[in-house]
Amino acid sequence: MESRKIAMWMTDRRERKMTEPTKLLAIKESTTPLFRLELPEGGLDLVILKNKRGDYGIIENVFVEEEFRKRGIATKLVRQAIELAKTLNLYKLTLTCSDSMTPFYARFGFKWHLLGQSHCMRINLK
Ligand SMILES: CC(C)(COP(=O)(O)OP(=O)(O)OC[C@H]1O[C@@H](n2cnc3c(N)ncnc32)[C@H](O)[C@@H]1OP(=O)(O)O)[C@@H](O)C(=O)NCCC(=O)NCCS
Repeated sequence: MESRKIAMWMTDRRERKMTEPTKLLAIKESTTPLFRLELPEGGLDLVILKNKRGDYGIIENVFVEEEFRKRGIATKLVRQAIELAKTLNLYKLTLTCSDSMTPFYARFGFKWHLLGQSHCMRINLK
């Protein structure tokens, strides 16, 4: 999924002033499966990739509209992403974030993980 489409979605979503309940969309035209967890107040993307060990997910674009922050929306979204990842039988979830956000993701069990040159937060699901 190109970043251009994600950027268009973010803009479009703001302009639409979303009021619909939680939606889960699979982007069919993408060769890489991408799920979007979307609430009226914010959303995140879950990109599914594959390696020798199996399917795994990357959480990206975690975002909550400013006026709705500090009310547990991001917490709800990350929990939903973890549940979805389990349903999809993913063996791990990874993400990158700033140092200041580390304690937030650590609450769910994510830990910093170094693999070769790459440094990400990771939770094992199997
Ligand atoms: C980060 C963000 C998604 C949090 O959304 P939220 O709905 O307010 O989060 P929740 O209410 O579920 O959780 C709040 C917790 O997030 C953490 N948090 C939120 N913003 C933070 C920040 N800027 N720095 C550090 N921790 C932060 C805190 O641990 C906070 O816990 P507290 O309420 O006990 O202090 C939101 O502030 C946002 O969209 N920011 C801009 C985009 C961004 O930075 N995304 C993260 C990419 S990794």
